[in-house]
Amino acid sequence: MSQGKYDFGLIGLGVMGKNFILNVADHGFSAIGYDLDQGKVDALKNESTTGRATATTDKLEFIRSLETPRKIMFLVPSGAPVDNVIEDLMPFLDNGDLLIDGGNSYFMDTERRMTKLRNSGINFLGLGISGGAKGARKGPSMMAGGDQETYDIIGSILEAVSEKVNSEPCVARVGNNSAGHYVKMVHNGIEYGLMQLIAETYDLAQYGLGYSNEQMAELFEGFNQGKLKSYLIEITADIFTKKDDLTPGELIDHISDRAKQKGTGKWISQNAMDIGIPIPAIDSSVSMRVLSSFKEEREKAALVYPKSQSDPSRFSAADLEAALYFSFIVTFAQGMRQLLEASSKYQYDLDLAEIAKIWRGGCIIRAELLEHIRKAFDNVDNREHLLFDAYISDEIKGLLPSVNKVISVAHNAGIAVSGMSASLNYFNAFRSERLPLNLIQAQRDYFGGHTYERLDRPGVFHTEWEED
Ligand code: 6PG
Repeated sequence: MSQGKYDFGLIGLGVMGKNFILNVADHGFSAIGYDLDQGKVDALKNESTTGRATATTDKLEFIRSLETPRKIMFLVPSGAPVDNVIEDLMPFLDNGDLLIDGGNSYFMDTERRMTKLRNSGINFLGLGISGGAKGARKGPSMMAGGDQETYDIIGSILEAVSEKVNSEPCVARVGNNSAGHYVKMVHNGIEYGLMQLIAETYDLAQYGLGYSNEQMAELFEGFNQGKLKSYLIEITADIFTKKDDLTPGELIDHISDRAKQKGTGKWISQNAMDIGIPIPAIDSSVSMRVLSSFKEEREKAALVYPKSQSDPSRFSAADLEAALYFSFIVTFAQGMRQLLEASSKYQYDLDLAEIAKIWRGGCIIRAELLEHIRKAFDNVDNREHLLFDAYISDEIKGLLPSVNKVISVAHNAGIAVSGMSASLNYFNAFRSERLPLNLIQAQRDYFGGHTYERLDRPGVFHTEWEED
């Protein structure tokens, strides 16, 4: 702090905001928070033990006490609240001040806001932040989008507060314009995909292998010692050990199976369709959350179509681990492929190796696998698709027998494994030199004269399919 002015300002002192500002203060920067809620302001002041973080409900005090160029982050719900905060601040800002949207904003909104603010002389960064409340407090992973000069205004603070892996900060300017929020959207799509796959594994272990919650915890703990080592597997093992406060047994058995969502998973699927990239493993995870909400219909259908009681031929825990690992790889591959396309489509100029690098720590999808993904995209000879990487393709080939076994047993037993099936189907289509979609071209030409191309000669053709 120079002459009593603060290095950093943060608007929105919810759990994420409060934790982030405390983290900034822990790293030697002075910071002031702003929120209209006096309770939240008091909570921050009480928890600030460094003496470097404070807060106010007075907007003018907040703005005037910031060092210029002002560095103001906001962590407010996406959509209209972000526009409102910007509108509210604009009359008090000076040329060169920096606004940072640290929420889960839709990337097209970020694009619009950037264009508008650029014309007003205000710098703007769209910053995807991952890691939940604990990450914000102890070290999140952060994906910034915008100009390099704009990033440099705040880079040292972001790098200080971020998680580190092998002393490397889990934050980077990932690309131009709205790239930060785009990359965070893809992160969340992968997050949805991995969570769905883990849920399917739970179903398979419960109904296929007859595991208790205790065995389930051991199973996931075991997975976390191997190639599946990741944050989501780690917390899953932990979840199965949690006792219920209200009734005997474990809490997991009392939680409703209607999964909620805030929308970022839906955005990635919508955008994947828009830019023409197939991500069925991620799409299916969004659909399954939606299907889970149709509880009454599912209950009715369960009576109409009871599942067979016949004992399915079993698979081992090792098969299950292989099927999950295979599906993790394919889900990451789909997300990375979408990033590659978006990089050229939106002129983001993304470095996929750098993105994998900053996802290795601090974020929800952090996983050992990301080190291999980083290496794969670091290789100049293959930046096309993760599945072409030599290490990954060796892994995939070794996993296939188990994947096929687990999925066919699941289908026979009536266990829904939409994420795993979507991963395997994507893989099988991806490795098919010839797909049966020549027939679709013929049908399109038959009923609509939409034309087709031939394999044996160039050009566009149309056939009169019916005799008259
Ligand atoms: C993160 C998470 C986080 C997200 C929650 C809830 O990276 O810390 O992605 O940003 O908001 O996971 O998302 P849903 O409500 O859509 O499941």
